Amino acid sequence: MAAPVHYLNNNLKIPALGAGTGKLKGETGVQAIKDAIDAGYRLFDTAFLYGNEDIVGQAISEKITEGVVKRDEIFIIGKLWGIHHDQVERACRETCQRLKVDNVDLYLLHFPVSFTFHNDSEKWPKDDDVLDKDYMDVWVEMEKLVHLGLTKNIGVSNFNEKQLERVYRLSNLKPKCHEIEFHPGFTRYSLLKLCRELNISVIAYCPLGRHKLEKQEPKFLYDSKVQEIAEKYNKTTAQVALRFSVQSNVIPIPKSATKSRLKENIDVFNFQLTEDEVSYLKNFHDEANQICLFHFATRSEHYPFK
Ligand SMILES: NC(=O)c1ccc[n+]([C@@H]2O[C@H](COP(=O)([O-])OP(=O)(O)OC[C@H]3O[C@@H](n4cnc5c(N)ncnc54)[C@H](OP(=O)(O)O)[C@@H]3O)[C@@H](O)[C@H]2O)c1
Repeated sequence: MAAPVHYLNNNLKIPALGAGTGKLKGETGVQAIKDAIDAGYRLFDTAFLYGNEDIVGQAISEKITEGVVKRDEIFIIGKLWGIHHDQVERACRETCQRLKVDNVDLYLLHFPVSFTFHNDSEKWPKDDDVLDKDYMDVWVEMEKLVHLGLTKNIGVSNFNEKQLERVYRLSNLKPKCHEIEFHPGFTRYSLLKLCRELNISVIAYCPLGRHKLEKQEPKFLYDSKVQEIAEKYNKTTAQVALRFSVQSNVIPIPKSATKSRLKENIDVFNFQLTEDEVSYLKNFHDEANQICLFHFATRSEHYPFK
């Protein structure tokens, strides 16, 4: 079993690599999370938006009952979605209930834009639902969750540099983590530098560039030189990409529903890319490679990716 390595920053003890859970559904989803625990994963990235907190909770609680892990060995991330910016406490309480835990380890403000609430099932905003509510007002409510014991830590996701600095400057409780898109095809080093200066840990989503076998994308997984680098270490190109995240001092959270890939993705702590290899991987960066643009929110003045 691959032991998860711990990454310590701002007093936060968090595994150096975790499992994404987006798109995991039903029995296969439950099995994938159990397989991940068996493979050594101790960090799980979840969100209300993914509509699967219940299956993540089921898998984790079954593994706890089986005696495989204890609750305090698992780090669970939950996220507040834009329709719940006026009902932060209820959203977090219900997330904890679905995850079958008393509290989450980290609760993130998923995106800096608020949307009109219709009901919990209408997650995606229509044009008129995109609001200009100030995310600082939401952050104040997030801070209360720590005092209520519903989350141990709070953080943000998908904020730009200006927004992150503003939260940092105006908050009583500073964000502990920032979850952003990061992979060799899309690296934001100025944002990473800011996070380092502010002592904010960075979690990398889509660390495999949301691999698509049919389209042979992203390029960095199919490039012949990356293939050569992978062969040199007896690894796959996916492992090289994940190692690139680890060496960039960010915490990758690859998603896989496949047992063999889950094992493969956590097996990245026994080799080291050279500086030249890291530099080569950096060349894949292109602004056009950004995957998660949240197009539906562009109307808001708080849309982060203008
Ligand atoms: N904060 C945010 O706004 C935000 C946005 C997007 C994502 N996320 C989080 O980040 C997680 C990861 O992002 P993602 O799922 O979009 O993309 P990703 O992890 O970059 O890629 C997932 C895709 O890669 C495949 N894959 C996994 N391991 C592989 C391997 N070793 N070799 C080849 N292919 C492999 C998976 O297929 P199989 O499942 O079939 O193995 C899946 O199709 C999400 O699950 C979610 O938890 C957060």
